[in-house]
Amino acid sequence: LLRIAPAEREQRCTILELRTHLPVSYRVLNVDRPIFDIANTQLADMIGNRRVLVVADERVVDLYGAQLTSYFERHTTLAGIIAMAGNESEKHWGTVERICNGAIQSGLERSSVIVGIGGGIVMDTAGVAASLYRRGVDFLRVPTTLIGIVDVAVGIKHGFNFTGKKNALGTFYPPIGAVADRRFLKTLEGRHLRCGLAEILKLGIVREPQLFELIEDYGGELIATGFSEPSAVADEIILQAQTSMMEELECNLYEQDKRRLADFGHTISPTLEAATNYALHHGEAVAIDMLLSAAVAVVNGICAEPDFERIRRVYEGAGLPVYVESLTPDLVRTAFEETRRHRGGALNLVVPTRVGNATFVQDLTASQLRNALALMR
Ligand SMILES: NC(=O)c1ccc[n+]([C@@H]2O[C@H](COP(=O)([O-])OP(=O)(O)OC[C@H]3O[C@@H](n4cnc5c(N)ncnc54)[C@H](O)[C@@H]3O)[C@@H](O)[C@H]2O)c1
Repeated sequence: LLRIAPAEREQRCTILELRTHLPVSYRVLNVDRPIFDIANTQLADMIGNRRVLVVADERVVDLYGAQLTSYFERHTTLAGIIAMAGNESEKHWGTVERICNGAIQSGLERSSVIVGIGGGIVMDTAGVAASLYRRGVDFLRVPTTLIGIVDVAVGIKHGFNFTGKKNALGTFYPPIGAVADRRFLKTLEGRHLRCGLAEILKLGIVREPQLFELIEDYGGELIATGFSEPSAVADEIILQAQTSMMEELECNLYEQDKRRLADFGHTISPTLEAATNYALHHGEAVAIDMLLSAAVAVVNGICAEPDFERIRRVYEGAGLPVYVESLTPDLVRTAFEETRRHRGGALNLVVPTRVGNATFVQDLTASQLRNALALMR
């Protein structure tokens, strides 16, 4: 605590300034044995012997409920399981309130843990509740989708949709960690696997050419096999994607720097998702945003067209959408305005300069936008 000398004209003030740099550390553990195997204490060890409130995706409860319940009953003091649907219409304040009510009714203490088990929808919503309940209880993530494993579970963001806007309210709240088991992906629908692949491609295109090449070579096979074959490649891709994302976050965890490579694909996509009333999934909207951004780079002469074509070929191989009718110039303009409000007045549109490298674009003329949309189509 510092006592600051006031400026000369404010001699009668006293100023105390608190400065602190609280450390943030959390682990992402990719288990080597089935996560809910009673003999595998890797998840339980992250929790310790504490009371636990589980917030789980309904579909995950249908598929894995019996093992999940036995595991938590055996290794922790299970206060309850709250199930929620994994769709965007459930990602709202009412669900956060329901989780907080559940926490109160089950007598959750400040030393207890909330565990979010599911995809981004469940983890985002449960994470907000964990950050609010008793001004914050420990939060642990168990991702069960590919986006969950490579993206949501490695960061510190939580949020929910509000007044028709995607993730309009939310918190930065470091979790105590994440425990990931890619065996969950065996039951995930192909469409959601593709969404996860889009988030991995994001990193491949802007900073990891080798990761991009792995997807180029194995993307189709991985989607067809529930991200299980070739097994070593699946592990390698997940590890590379998590590492790359965590490196991006490490130096800018609270996003003070608004020029973020990890925002590639996240400028137009929130507006696009909401405009389709979430008929378009998050990863699909991200994929379309990334391809438009790559097209913008081509029409601006920043990226060569063969690189753009290479990206588009990967999309086609993996079955990712390359265009949707709702992507109009008006929607893009609205998205840019919304983005500027979010990024301190700057657009910071991330565009590739080639596969594995990127830069930022701050504005677009109407004709550049028209040409970029035409190139996509
Ligand atoms: N906080 C962050 O940093 C961050 C990052 C990326 C995305 N997100 C958010 O994540 C959300 C998207 O999350 P998502 O793509 O993980 O999908 P999701 O949570 O929408 O889940 C997709 C579907 O898969 C089902 N499901 C989940 N696990 C399953 C399994 N193992 N087997 C079978 N079905 C399963 C769910 O019921 C749901 O129908 C968006 O709301 C997005 O905004 C947040």
